[in-house]
Amino acid sequence: MIVVEKRADLAAAREARAGRVAVVMTMGALHEGHAALVRAARRSADSVLVTIFVNPLQFGAHEDLDRYPRTLQADLALCEREGTDVVFTPSPEVVYPEGPPVVRVSAGPLGDVLEGARRPGHFDGVLTVVLKLLQLSRPDVALFGQKDAQQLAAVRQMVRDLDVPVDVVGVPTVREPDGLALSSRNRYLSPQERQSALVLSRALGARDLQTGRALLAAEPGVVPDYLERVDSTTFHPDPAGDLVVVAARVGATRLIDNLVLPAAAEGRRP
Ligand code: PAJ
Repeated sequence: MIVVEKRADLAAAREARAGRVAVVMTMGALHEGHAALVRAARRSADSVLVTIFVNPLQFGAHEDLDRYPRTLQADLALCEREGTDVVFTPSPEVVYPEGPPVVRVSAGPLGDVLEGARRPGHFDGVLTVVLKLLQLSRPDVALFGQKDAQQLAAVRQMVRDLDVPVDVVGVPTVREPDGLALSSRNRYLSPQERQSALVLSRALGARDLQTGRALLAAEPGVVPDYLERVDSTTFHPDPAGDLVVVAARVGATRLIDNLVLPAAAEGRRP
């Protein structure tokens, strides 16, 4: 496994790879959810490139950029164990050599609803770094987790609208045995908060939105944000939508999760 920090070294490592190249973009603090992306990448390409970069552009002024967990040695061990070929760990100066970029990608309407509405500018920051990392690594395929469903939808929309030459693959959410979706932010949770956080997956599995919202509201230490059934492309509320999305604050930590409804998608076909 090669670890590179500079653009020229990434370009050289990329040039040396024959066949299909897959990229898995991450912000580090890697866990089994990221590992599943790397394994899916292995299956869909000849070489796997992992990027580890905590992107300042996608954090709001009052969000956790400064305390976002940074665990590089453990991250590299996970990458090695899962059979990664190249890891790109640039500094902000390497990704943004002229400072914050003046020209950015706009997520459009997806940037204004649900996660986009709660985190103004977040998806613009995500798409801008995703496009830059795609340009720098020139992969054939890029893998993203279903866990961040609105991010996945925004990336797919960008790739369609801007004719980005890459296949986007979504990977199912990896959960703890008790249902909690793995997230780098789970390590902020106290044992008690960790227990309360289970209400997110329970709410997703409730028989209707009203019941799910009642579960969220009744959980001590949890401040519900939204529980909605939406269309998984537009993220507009849709009673026949193919996705249920949830967000809540557990203690000081904001968590999101979602549930794909395959039967509803069937029903929508003409
Ligand atoms: P990060 O939160 O590190 O997530 C990196 C990738 O791992 C994303 O595609 C995310 O959806 C996926 N992922 C996280 N938890 C998962 C889980 N439990 N199961 C399956 N996949 C999971 O998402 C980002 O970083 C950033 O926004 C990034 C795309 C790297 C741009 O900065």
